[in-house]
Amino acid sequence: MERGTDRAVLVTGGAGYIGAHTAKALKEKGFLPVVFDNLSSGFREAVRWGPFVHGDVRDRAALREAMSAYQADAVIHFAGLIEVGRSVQRPDLFWDVNVGGTAAVLAAMQDAGVTRLVFSSSAAVYGQGSRGALETIPETAEKAPASPYGDTKLAGERLIEAHCRAFDLNAVALRYFNAAGADPSGRIGEAHEPETHLIPLAIAAALGARPPLTIFGDDFDTPDGTCLRDYIHVNDLAAAHVAAVELALPAGAFEAANVGTGRGCSVREVVDAVGRAAGRRPPHAVGPRRAGDPPSLVADPTRAQGLLGWRARFSSLDQIVADALRWERLPAYGCGARAPVSSPVSEAAE
Ligand SMILES: NC(=O)c1ccc[n+]([C@@H]2O[C@H](COP(=O)([O-])OP(=O)(O)OC[C@H]3O[C@@H](n4cnc5c(N)ncnc54)[C@H](O)[C@@H]3O)[C@@H](O)[C@H]2O)c1
Repeated sequence: MERGTDRAVLVTGGAGYIGAHTAKALKEKGFLPVVFDNLSSGFREAVRWGPFVHGDVRDRAALREAMSAYQADAVIHFAGLIEVGRSVQRPDLFWDVNVGGTAAVLAAMQDAGVTRLVFSSSAAVYGQGSRGALETIPETAEKAPASPYGDTKLAGERLIEAHCRAFDLNAVALRYFNAAGADPSGRIGEAHEPETHLIPLAIAAALGARPPLTIFGDDFDTPDGTCLRDYIHVNDLAAAHVAAVELALPAGAFEAANVGTGRGCSVREVVDAVGRAAGRRPPHAVGPRRAGDPPSLVADPTRAQGLLGWRARFSSLDQIVADALRWERLPAYGCGARAPVSSPVSEAAE
């Protein structure tokens, strides 16, 4: 249970996709990532860079105990439910885990005297807006979530901002656009079940591991008629979190920053990039638009660049697809190979 000389950071949801990559980046920068996760969608095999605490993010006492045991300096809060479609069917569950979990994290931080929080927010806080297809989104854009999932992210931000003001915490909310890719080591990668993200679905279709891809609409007001999204390499996201932990902020400060590249890629461009990398174009068909799909969601990342001294380095579409393809060909876990829940607190292998 000793934390050693490294500064400990509690990483809720650190057994998941973005959390595991961030834990690796923290370790490489001399921090001790302490993963706190209930493994509801994460994987024990993804926890490789520090201790693992099995727990539910709504459990204030368990969070406080983990923060105190490892003398955490900061918390990065990833744990939550992520499927937009499911949030429409189960808004109760999403508010409970995503907003209730954030409230428990904030309360436990007060209990344990931890003052720095980095929060997983999302481009979903912006909703559809009335932007042109080539307009990027600054942090000041109207907040109008189009789903209960987006509502929970915005509510989480507001709760955190109020806590910062009232209790002298300080926090950075990172609004991610589309996380993609995998660590080039091949040891960790994206393993969502069900998978709803375009790049892994396109790769799986090209490899014949899933059915042909459906392109949801090709009549949008965009250069090739398909939706534009801002794909950010998961290791660029991870680096943004480490920079946010290291940031000097005054007590009470709350900052929100978009983490994206500022460049939109269309669904057709993704299909083409996967075809180039895999040597076989993903079989696909065009279907109707999905309700609530904005034609374009592209970040203006200027604020993150200035605040964090951060730049996306690995986020060309070809690099993202190459790294994702390496993982999809040989995943180290996932594909139904979910690890059984082990003892409540145990040490990671390394
Ligand atoms: N993937 C993206 O493109 C994207 C975009 C924007 C925002 N986000 C946000 O980033 C965060 C991480 O996303 P991800 O893609 O890594 O998802 P993920 O499902 O891979 O990871 C989520 C982790 O949280 C854990 N978790 C869920 N409920 C929990 C609970 N009640 N108690 C403890 N742990 C719990 C899961 O076991 C999992 O390890 C989420 O908050 C998500 O909303 C993701």
